[in-house]
Amino acid sequence: MQKDQPIGLFDSGIGGLTVLYEALKVLPSEKYIYFSDGDNAPYGTRPKEEVRELVMEAIRFIASMDVKAIVVACNTATSVAIEDLRRLYDFPIIGMEPAVKPAVLSDKRKRVLVFATELTLKEEKFHDLVARVDTQQIVDYLPLQELVMYAEHFDFDENKIISYLQQKLSSIRLENYGAVVLGCTHFIFFRNLMEKIIPPEIAIIDGNLGTVKNLKNKLGDQLNDGPGGVSYFLSGKAKEPVYFERYLRFLNTLELHSATSG
Ligand code: DGL
Repeated sequence: MQKDQPIGLFDSGIGGLTVLYEALKVLPSEKYIYFSDGDNAPYGTRPKEEVRELVMEAIRFIASMDVKAIVVACNTATSVAIEDLRRLYDFPIIGMEPAVKPAVLSDKRKRVLVFATELTLKEEKFHDLVARVDTQQIVDYLPLQELVMYAEHFDFDENKIISYLQQKLSSIRLENYGAVVLGCTHFIFFRNLMEKIIPPEIAIIDGNLGTVKNLKNKLGDQLNDGPGGVSYFLSGKAKEPVYFERYLRFLNTLELHSATSG
């Protein structure tokens, strides 16, 4: 591993930009290659084998650019392919899984609700994780698959998203919950809208910062001294930054909003 090699970041679409956003804050001097498989999004509604093939192909492409590490910034891709990827490549591959453990530990008297894609919630990897950490049987889960394509289409229309969430949550008694886990990187874009219907005493937990810290640990003393930068690819083709930077700017406004609203 050499300091000035790039770091690959991969997602089925633009969800992984929420991880890139954190990475740019924590490790701003690194060179990043962001790969969205947007032509094939969403992954969460596809059969497992198909997703595994798509992930293997995308990672082959990223690995050919001589990266020092890859972050699979997608819970769905991680759940079906991370073991195979780690067997194939000798550089660090950092995966993501719903942050169920910190959520379970956050408030032992109340339940935990995990939002993720249909495929993540069907997978053995998720059920193994829950079996390991949910000793009191307090974890419930709910797929919010449609949010993925709303985000892909840059559709953050407040009325539409709020009524979608209200309908999805209509049979859930939120007062029983102490934490909600955002187990899909696309869902981070809807955090402020979720905060409008999820009471403030419920913690909304995601694994993005933890993933970036994990990346930093894996890089050890091989951190780049700069200059940093990002190159973007969409399903194997170079793509102009403006398409992706719009999302990064949007994340910035969400942060400012939550900072000002306390
Ligand atoms: N962003 C993804 C995740 O974290 C997957 C979304 C999808 O393609 O369905 O699970």
